[in-house]
Amino acid sequence: MAYRAAVVILSDKGYHGEREDKSGPALQALLSEFDVLPTIILPDDRALIEQTLIRLADEEKVDVVFTSGGTGLAPRDVTPEATLAVVDRLVPGIPEAMRLKSLQITNRAMLTRSAAGVRGRTLIINLPGSPKAVAECMEVVLPVMDHALETLRGEAYECARQDS
Ligand code: MTE
Repeated sequence: MAYRAAVVILSDKGYHGEREDKSGPALQALLSEFDVLPTIILPDDRALIEQTLIRLADEEKVDVVFTSGGTGLAPRDVTPEATLAVVDRLVPGIPEAMRLKSLQITNRAMLTRSAAGVRGRTLIINLPGSPKAVAECMEVVLPVMDHALETLRGEAYECARQDS
């Protein structure tokens, strides 16, 4: 069965139609093997982001939510705070791995405060906002998604190591 995913874009400009969202389509294309809900575009509003993440986890019960944007240092960047407020368990290795790989591409990778965690049976992963950053970070996380999500569902009990 395909895993269910949601894509949430955090961008004041995208929300107000002042900038075309290119990260949503990029993520949708990368998630072709997932059953993905239509992209949700939100402004950088912490309460709204929290409500949306809670709905996607508790009501839609998607397996994974990918957010994009709002992870930097700008005053309105609140995606990590909203994420940390709604998750029960942190998965720090995911943003650590994304930053580690991304630092080989740009030293600005250290400026993303992206977080990842689990709410119930839903994994929430923050990605930076640009389509380039989305592609680079997804290259890091996509290969482990199968194992992450089957473990989260309680379906994988053996972690036989595959070096890839
Ligand atoms: N990570 C990767 N892989 N590639 C990038 O181009 N851009 C960085 C960083 N992470 C980048 C990246 C930059 S310039 C910023 S400001 C931060 O992500 C935060 O981005 P956000 O505010 O759009 O979330």
